[in-house]
Amino acid sequence: MCGIVGYVGSKSADNILLNGLKRLEYRGYDSAGMAIVEDGHISTRRAKGRVTELEQILAEQPLKSTMGIAHTRWATHGKPSVKNAHPHVDASGRLALVHNGIIENHRSIRSLLEGKGIAFQSDTDTESLVQLIGYFYKESGDLTGSLQRALRDVQGTFGIALICADQPGRIIGARRGSPLIVGVGDGEFVIASDGSAIVEHTSQVIFLKDNEMVELSDGRYEISTMDAEPIQAQVDTLELTLEEIEIGSHEHYMHKEIFEQPQSLANCLAGRLDLQAGEVVLGGLSEVQREIANCKRVLLFACGTAWHAGLVGEYLFEELSFTPAEVEYSSELRYRNPIIEEGTIGIVLSQSGETADSLAALREIKRKGATVFGIVNVVGSSIARETDAGVYLHVGPEIGVASTKAFTAQVAVLTMMAIDMGRRRYLSHARAEELLKELHQIPGKVEKVLALEDQIRKITAKYVDRNNWLYLGRGVNYPVALEGALKLKEISYIHAEGMPAAEMKHGPIALIDEDMPVVVVAPKDHTYDKVLSNIEEVHTRQGRIIAIATEGDTRLSELAEEVIYVPQTSPLLSPLVTTIPLQLMAYHAALMRGQNVDKPRNLAKSVTVE
Ligand code: M6R
Repeated sequence: MCGIVGYVGSKSADNILLNGLKRLEYRGYDSAGMAIVEDGHISTRRAKGRVTELEQILAEQPLKSTMGIAHTRWATHGKPSVKNAHPHVDASGRLALVHNGIIENHRSIRSLLEGKGIAFQSDTDTESLVQLIGYFYKESGDLTGSLQRALRDVQGTFGIALICADQPGRIIGARRGSPLIVGVGDGEFVIASDGSAIVEHTSQVIFLKDNEMVELSDGRYEISTMDAEPIQAQVDTLELTLEEIEIGSHEHYMHKEIFEQPQSLANCLAGRLDLQAGEVVLGGLSEVQREIANCKRVLLFACGTAWHAGLVGEYLFEELSFTPAEVEYSSELRYRNPIIEEGTIGIVLSQSGETADSLAALREIKRKGATVFGIVNVVGSSIARETDAGVYLHVGPEIGVASTKAFTAQVAVLTMMAIDMGRRRYLSHARAEELLKELHQIPGKVEKVLALEDQIRKITAKYVDRNNWLYLGRGVNYPVALEGALKLKEISYIHAEGMPAAEMKHGPIALIDEDMPVVVVAPKDHTYDKVLSNIEEVHTRQGRIIAIATEGDTRLSELAEEVIYVPQTSPLLSPLVTTIPLQLMAYHAALMRGQNVDKPRNLAKSVTVE
């Protein structure tokens, strides 16, 4: 959560920092702020709300310097307000800090420092850290040493950037549990939570690792551990282009990303399907062939939309790999005592690769001896680096807070993994070949569903005033129902519940009346007749049925108010097409209700706190 950015070089910092914040705003948008060193003192500007609010303040009261730090906040400790906005300044006014993460022992630090007469200005956990650094700095006059000492005392997670009025031209960064990347330019540096704030300045980057810090000054960088051990850092090339993070002709990133899916899926599948041989080629798993061959159980874990993809994976691994599979919420997994037997492969799914719950669960499962594979989008992210092997989604940056193209790619990767594992067991060449050919055609079929946008928008308009929706599905389309409901609630704030179609009669059916839209995902598969019975049950209670059906289906139109037809595909692959209308419905419902589609309230793109 939160985005941080810092710049030091010879250019004017304000615009670089402001643009950086705009790129990072998807990480949080409760408040924004900036600090620089000018004429030997720290100057800050802070605003509640979006980066544009800060921009207005800066237009009236500019900050002029060739260095500075900035922050966009997703509030955890302390409500969104100017006083809680970063950067936070210590009691001496000489230090300013931006922070992404949580200082867990902030209360004890605060009471210790308050006992020494230091007056706090905010309700945040972050202020305890800058006050602690300031307290040590006042004693020693050694900035780096004071930071190292303070970081030894704090518990929790942080990605930070620190500046000091006594040392203009210098930024110190450090990380533990929250991402931090240093862009290395020609005599200048941009330090940020992710590459989107860096890419327009340089593609040369250093991904800081946990417990590392970096000092940027005089056109040089020095990386060390927090115990001052020097580190020879590797400079990587950022796999991100400016075009990928521009919104283009779309009104919203979510719309752009929904419409990118034919291409993003094609990119995800590219070079990975050997149609002739009926085989899958996953380079990222080439070193772990023995583990895959010996796998006895698959343990998938993730959060939110990625968890829904994991649930599809459960069906895929059982069906195609003949291997027991279960999906678990990352946040629950780490607090249980999961039994990891020999032959367990963990698979963690995460678009961002930075989700704190998934990262913590990954460490716990590895500690217990499992081999863990990652299905991650962001290259070089923490989860990608800490897993034993993995498969990248290759769908380009996903910026809209509501995940769309990452979900379909996660399902595509899980399908390939399950086929790959299945071919070492009982999955026949013929069946694998048939599935791979189908998979190859999916981007074209997604394109056809996208062409239905106008119809989907009109259907959505008829029901957008209803405040409670149900989503039903069976088998692999049960997770699609969950995902459809999540999309609707997170961006339009309409209450929606997804569930297995048959579960409805065990309670939720009591909710159904003529006001309730019931979205039923009902493609032609082995559950179709049963779903039809569930639809009858809804119909009898006058629920408003919106069915997602396979092209050529003639029965559903007799019962449903609305039918959206998607192209026929192999039943196991159907989530890749049935999901698309639900994404579009949620998008249009949110627009019609006047909500901010890309930046829904209370949410942030990557949840880097537990
Ligand atoms: O980056 P991750 O895939 O690990 O994120 C997991 C969830 O936070 C994420 O999918 C969230 O549920 C989205 N807002 C859903 O649209």
